Amino acid sequence: MDKFHPTLIYILLFLATLFYYLFSKKHNKRHKLIAKLPPGSMGWPYIGETLQLYCKDPNIFFSDKQTRYGEIFKTHILGCPCVMLASPEASRFVLVTNADLFKPTYPKSKEKMIGPNALFFHQGEYHTQLRKLVVTSLSPESIKKFIHGIESIAISTLDSWPNGYIINTFQQMKKFSFEVGILAIFGELGKQHKEELKNNYCIVDKGYNSFPTNLPGTAYHKALTARRRLSRILEEIISERKEKKLSEKDLLGHLLNFKNDKGETLSDDQISDNIIGILFAAQDTTASALTWIIKYLHDHPKLLQAIKAEQKAIYLSNEKGNKSLTWTQTRSNMPLTYKVILESLRMASIVSFTFREAVVDVVYKGYLIPKGWKVMPLFRNIHHNPEFFNEPQNFDPNRFEVAPKPNTFLPFGTGAHSCPGNELAKLEILILIHHLVNKLRWELVGSQDMVEYSPFPVPYNGLPARIWREPDTQEIYHQKKLPK
Ligand code: HEM
Repeated sequence: MDKFHPTLIYILLFLATLFYYLFSKKHNKRHKLIAKLPPGSMGWPYIGETLQLYCKDPNIFFSDKQTRYGEIFKTHILGCPCVMLASPEASRFVLVTNADLFKPTYPKSKEKMIGPNALFFHQGEYHTQLRKLVVTSLSPESIKKFIHGIESIAISTLDSWPNGYIINTFQQMKKFSFEVGILAIFGELGKQHKEELKNNYCIVDKGYNSFPTNLPGTAYHKALTARRRLSRILEEIISERKEKKLSEKDLLGHLLNFKNDKGETLSDDQISDNIIGILFAAQDTTASALTWIIKYLHDHPKLLQAIKAEQKAIYLSNEKGNKSLTWTQTRSNMPLTYKVILESLRMASIVSFTFREAVVDVVYKGYLIPKGWKVMPLFRNIHHNPEFFNEPQNFDPNRFEVAPKPNTFLPFGTGAHSCPGNELAKLEILILIHHLVNKLRWELVGSQDMVEYSPFPVPYNGLPARIWREPDTQEIYHQKKLPK
């Protein structure tokens, strides 16, 4: 017989599959039996260690745990068993090399508020395709064209601060980052639509972190109602764009032109949820970074002088601010300011950690991460580990003259969900700092060493600061009209 009978082939295939299945199950079981849960305490029944986390500064909670248990430990917060990971390798394992074993996870109330189609709630094909679109729209090549627009927003934000008065720095930076977000998403947007978006987004923002009770009068209920209004405003903007058949190259233009492999386009809901999601991801993060930078510069007067000198040289070469900043200036002529941004992102670690959920039982370094448990890579612990950053409590931008070791500097995360807005964030920060240090002086008011979580860390009370206009730039800035 020179050929195998087909039945024999089927039997062999069946036996091979069965053997593989039994062997791999046994192997996994043995692996799981050997693997133990990480060290750590699960606290009280149900509430776990939630009170300890919220009564202390969360950063102290995490660093105490790391000192006690090492780089991987378990705990139980907000009704969920969690494994926390404080090493660069573990972050890479969860977010990059084994990202398919861990899915993004957010409370349902937050998902409802932003919109369930926003890309950061997803994994797989939908996420990959949308992410490609967002990454393209926010790439350096695409954001170059916004430089004049961002500059105009920065100038009008600073011009709105009355001389000698106190501002709430974080709230002012929120206004600035929201306007830049609108510019990146819509390009030019009519005044009325912009105002309506701003007013309703503000209500959503206020209710986002409130207790999710959907009863009339509560902040959460008001936020859900405003969220529905936002959908209607966005539908109007989308249908106007479709009617005018404008093929703009901003983010909305990309969303409207999107077609997946099967030729399907995005629904209006999918577009709206992603717009709100991007505004949400962009606003408080960037505003918090800017607020910290203003505080760190105030606390380090010599560094502030050096930044002023760097920015003044650009200002003078731009005919005392009469010519617009160029892309090359932001990329090549601001090296110290750029290092201040990196060091501020390390020190403040605005996104201190992120959440994922194990979709199967996973074994990491001999420890079991059970299916359904939350997994939290702790970026802040890595940024403040003396093994990777010498004297981590010192604010030292010059440490960034040498690139940090791989996976030790993660202000924008890493892997499949890393921040697609990081170039835009850095560009808008550079532009605002350029005008701020050339145009103003500031003095901090009140207590300066406490931190609030909103949920991102922000200096206490939003960093109140008294502002003065530098006399020699006052005239020029008021006359200035930037070319489009
Ligand atoms: C200093 C400012 C910013 C910081 C520190 C920051 C930080 C981060 C981090 C750490 C992540 C990853 C979260 C995770 O892995 O779970 C992320 C994701 C994201 N960020 Fe940013 N971000 C900033 C500004 C922005 C801006 C300006 C935009 C948009 C204009 C933006 C849009 C997004 C989006 C859409 C995601 C989700 C990506 C995905 O799931 O694929 N971010 N950001």
